[in-house]
Amino acid sequence: MRMVDLIAKKRDGEALTKEEINFMIEGYTKGEIPDYQMSAMAMALYFQEMTTEERVNLTMAMVDSGDTIDLTGIEGIKVDKHSTGGVGDTTTLILAPLVASVGVPVAKMSGRGLGHTGGTIDKLESFEGFQVELDGKTFNDLVNKNKVAVVGQSGNLTPADKKLYALRDVTATVNSIPLIASSIMSKKIASGADAIVLDVKTGSGAFMENLDDAKALAKAMVAIGNGAGRQTIGVISDMTQPLGFAVGNALEVKEAIDTLKGQGPEDLTELCLTLGSHMVYLAKKAASIDAARTMLEDAITSGHALETFKVFVAGQGGNPDVIDDPSLLPQASIVKEIVADQAGYVQEIIADEVGIGAGMLGAGRMTKESEIDLAVGLVLNKKVGDYVEKGASLVTLHANTENTQEVEDKVRQAYRISDEKPKAGVLIYDVIT
Ligand code: URA
Ligand code: CA
Repeated sequence: MRMVDLIAKKRDGEALTKEEINFMIEGYTKGEIPDYQMSAMAMALYFQEMTTEERVNLTMAMVDSGDTIDLTGIEGIKVDKHSTGGVGDTTTLILAPLVASVGVPVAKMSGRGLGHTGGTIDKLESFEGFQVELDGKTFNDLVNKNKVAVVGQSGNLTPADKKLYALRDVTATVNSIPLIASSIMSKKIASGADAIVLDVKTGSGAFMENLDDAKALAKAMVAIGNGAGRQTIGVISDMTQPLGFAVGNALEVKEAIDTLKGQGPEDLTELCLTLGSHMVYLAKKAASIDAARTMLEDAITSGHALETFKVFVAGQGGNPDVIDDPSLLPQASIVKEIVADQAGYVQEIIADEVGIGAGMLGAGRMTKESEIDLAVGLVLNKKVGDYVEKGASLVTLHANTENTQEVEDKVRQAYRISDEKPKAGVLIYDVIT
């Protein structure tokens, strides 16, 4: 087989066979196929279509390119959740203990990554003593005992995807739905999930800004998951404003605690109940989505979800007292209000700009080496549809530096305020099964 022939075949719009895809991905991972040929292939894939079969084969070839996580020692159906990323997305911190509290095993690998705030792993380190590096046996034992554990990424998962994603990044071929879908699904499948719930965001703060693209991506990922024997569903949710109120690390932990107590922001609570009920249903712990939702609501009301959070934190060496007393979380030295410079209704909050503001305060990493300040971030006091008086607080800023003028300006500009009361927004646009 020759790579040049495969490039020509795909250029002309023909489908590649499983053997051809395996040849290409294996060869590329080993360095036998050079970047220039893979670049040409990526561009051909960008302009041509890929059948569902090709997408499944590409995904599985990338899964097979490296290590995979073996969760077979954990009892029950392991359901993973993946979000395409947004601003102030605290859902994993809430969902892990919430669905575990009704008996769904949560064996989650989570990254640190670059972003406006840290990843779930960084956020969990807001609990003094919390261990994110666990050996495989400890991890399995914890999930069997407590139903939930979260570890940092280890092992060499999907090296083909790492290499191909980096190549796409510099050849203007990231933005292809089949390639994005295969990339994301390869990582989920390599992490050992039996079933997958996807949260695909749409709106100004999302990777897929418009709704049609978000739906197309969700459909593509669901088809790959199901085609690879992992039951998958996709929820399309809104990211035209940050989710919940808090954007930061310890601040989001506090928000997760509030939500597990039933006192969280409405949008964040609703999204967690929606994603969570699909997880519980896929794990076969409920006969219907509605029944699953009732179980989760009951777990919040009874305090069982919050109790599970304590057990989870303590199980990994963290201080569970924080959950009863969030003032034990890392605290910023400076807390001040960013006030509205005009009265009116909030029409829009550009999520990306709020995220960048939190990042500038030190809540996220600029480079892989940079240190995160767990205490800093932003808490929104007004969301879309709220009325604000001139001079009233829009956002509370938590900083460890006096020099916050630039962030304050950025955040104020992220808010669009006018006299008209906006129409109620949509949180969940669609569920793709
Ligand atoms: N995120 C991924 O993991 N892969 C892509 O290709 C795009 C976004
Ligand atoms: Ca949030």
